[in-house]
Amino acid sequence: MVQPALHFLSGMPARCLLFLCVLCALWVSLCNGACAEVDSDTEAVAGEGFKLGCISCKMRGEVEARAIADWYFKAKGQTEFAHIFSYESEEAIIIDNQFDDRLDWNGSRNTHDLQDASIYILNVTFNDSGVYRCFLRRTLLYDAYEHDATASKLVHLTVVAKATRGTASIVSEVMMYVSIIGLQLWLLVEMIYCYRKIAAAGDEALRASAEEYLAIASESKDNCTGVQVAE
Ligand SMILES: *[C@@H]1O[C@H](CO)[C@@H](O)[C@H](O)[C@H]1NC(C)=O
Ligand SMILES: *[C@@H]1O[C@H](CO)[C@@H](O)[C@H](O)[C@H]1NC(C)=O
Ligand SMILES: *[C@@H]1O[C@H](CO)[C@@H](O)[C@H](O)[C@H]1NC(C)=O
Ligand SMILES: *[C@@H]1O[C@H](CO)[C@@H](O)[C@H](O)[C@H]1NC(C)=O
Repeated sequence: MVQPALHFLSGMPARCLLFLCVLCALWVSLCNGACAEVDSDTEAVAGEGFKLGCISCKMRGEVEARAIADWYFKAKGQTEFAHIFSYESEEAIIIDNQFDDRLDWNGSRNTHDLQDASIYILNVTFNDSGVYRCFLRRTLLYDAYEHDATASKLVHLTVVAKATRGTASIVSEVMMYVSIIGLQLWLLVEMIYCYRKIAAAGDEALRASAEEYLAIASESKDNCTGVQVAE
């Protein structure tokens, strides 16, 4: 009998389908969260260390790849990017002497398949303010051929004397908590709503199929009073 199943699906409102989709998407994003392209921080404190973030996720996670990372820097007031750092085959090379002994690899380790190309600046100076550009050259190794892809990101770095906490950051943190709680409440409400809808739809489908069954039965036999009561 296919009938009850069809009744059941058509009885399920679009809203519940949407809810199921959101749930699936959340689940997928939680379980597939191996690589997320988080933006770098942009404010460093003079004298301290700072991580310049650069994450470029591989679109085809299952395909093997190798990658080379390069970093470029354009100081405030300058027009050209200078090559400052390169990372290839697990070997880091500092190219610009402004950064001698001050850069360290903070990206993917023990692999040639880089997705995280972050570097770390030790003892940040005010002269380190400016625009940084990371450049990732990735070769995807398919069975029969190789495919080259590049990714590049910019980080606008400001160096400050003391860490500031802008109101924007406080507001966004509060908003984050509010939205997390809001989302959970919404999920709960939708869950209850959909559960009741689905339960009701299930009853409906059962009743409908019972009516059909009785109707068919009554065609060959006498009229059934039960059907008239149900209608
Ligand atoms: C980044 O590099 C710095 C300096 O070597 C180190 O202190 C820090 O622990 C590293 N962080 C990560 C996440 O690897
Ligand atoms: C960084 O600063 C500390 C303390 O000021 C100093 O001991 C260290 O040698 C500096 N490192 C570099 C690479 O300049
Ligand atoms: C910053 O740059 C200026 C001008 O190039 C230079 O005179 C100064 O010594 C630099 N400061 C540091 C901490 O490197
Ligand atoms: C069955 O119901 C139909 C219509 O509802 C009616 O015309 C018919 O006379 C009934 N037959 C019996 C045996 O009651």
